[in-house]
Order: sequence, then C-alpha cells, then structure tokens
Amino acid sequence: MAVAEPPRIGRVLIAEAELRARVVELGRTISRDYAGQNPVIVGVLKGALVFMADLIRAMPIDLTTDFMALSSYGVETKSTGVVKLASDLSMPIDGRHVVLVEDIIDTGRTVSYLKRNLETRHPKSLRLCALLDKIERREVDVEIEYLGFTIPNVFVVGYGLDHAGLYRNLPYVAALDGV
Ligand code: IMP
Ligand code: MG
Repeated sequence: MAVAEPPRIGRVLIAEAELRARVVELGRTISRDYAGQNPVIVGVLKGALVFMADLIRAMPIDLTTDFMALSSYGVETKSTGVVKLASDLSMPIDGRHVVLVEDIIDTGRTVSYLKRNLETRHPKSLRLCALLDKIERREVDVEIEYLGFTIPNVFVVGYGLDHAGLYRNLPYVAALDGV
C-alpha cells in the first residue's frame, strides 16, 4: 500500500502585498469607528497572532490589547464544534468597547461560542474582525463587522493559520494540498 503523501503548500490565495493593503484598510476603518474610545482588541490565539500584530500597527488611536486562547483541534483540519477556553482575558471588559479578532470563520462555531462568552461580561459593545471568511462552510450564523477576505472552501495556511502547528510564519495565505 502506498504511503500517504505529506501535505504541501499549494496555490497562494492572498499574497503579502494584498494582505498588507487590506489590513491597513481595516485598521483605518476600525480606528475611525473607535477613535477616543480606547477599545479592547481581543486576539484569539494562536491563529490571530500575525493578523492582529499588523492590524494594531495600522490603528493610530489609543487602544488596549488582550488575548484568549482556545484549545486546538490537534492535527484535525475540520472544526469539531467543541471549543475549550485554554487561557482567558487578563482583565475585565465590562463597560468597554471590544473588538474580537479572529483569523478565519469556518463553521462559525468557535466565534459564536466566544461572542456568547464575552457578552456575559457586559462589554459596552462587541464586534468581530476576521481576516478570512470561508462562508460556504457556515453552520452557525455570525455577523462579521470587519472582514478581510472571503475565500473558497479550501484549507489554508500562513499569516498565522496553521496545520498541525506548522506554517503560521508564512507571510502569505496559501492553500494546503493533500489534507
Ligand atoms: P469554526 O469554529 O469552524 O469557525 O473554526 C474556526 C477555527 O478553525 C479557526 O479559528 C481556525 O483555527 C480553524 N480553521 C478553520 N479553517 C481553517 C483553515 O483553512 N486553515 C487553518 N485553520 C482553520
Ligand atoms: Mg483559530
């Protein structure tokens, strides 16, 4: 029996320059909406790490950062729908404007869990900023107030997104073939 081929980096879906341009636009838009309000920008680790680092540097306003971490799927490439909070925010958010920053919305399960979780803490407002939207796969309705790109139903890596922990450091978003 043939041994299964390891996955390999395929077609580049979003090149570095395209990412940069769009992230700067998003940063400007969010900055206009939250100027003078010191929003809490909450990144979902680890996927949102790279996106958020670039996003906040495109936001010339007072802001605060915080992070939540979710337990990973391991090497699975499909959402199990089971989400576990591995690490929580470092401070309360009641009365604060919160922008949740995610790498990708797939089934929508992860982010709807997170939104419900954060709403119980009574933020003044809560909006979602996602780099990628794999809309074809949606199972749970989610409103994405700030979206980078809509992508087709392919597994992608790079710019923070991983497969089995690898490829987060690629400066572009590419399809991963053979997963
Ligand atoms: P959801 O709960 O199905 O929306 O899954 C969202 C999470 O699944 C994301 O935050 C990613 O960690 C992961 N994910 C979904 N699609 C991809 C992909 O194409 N590449 C890498 N990670 C993905
Ligand atoms: Mg993620």
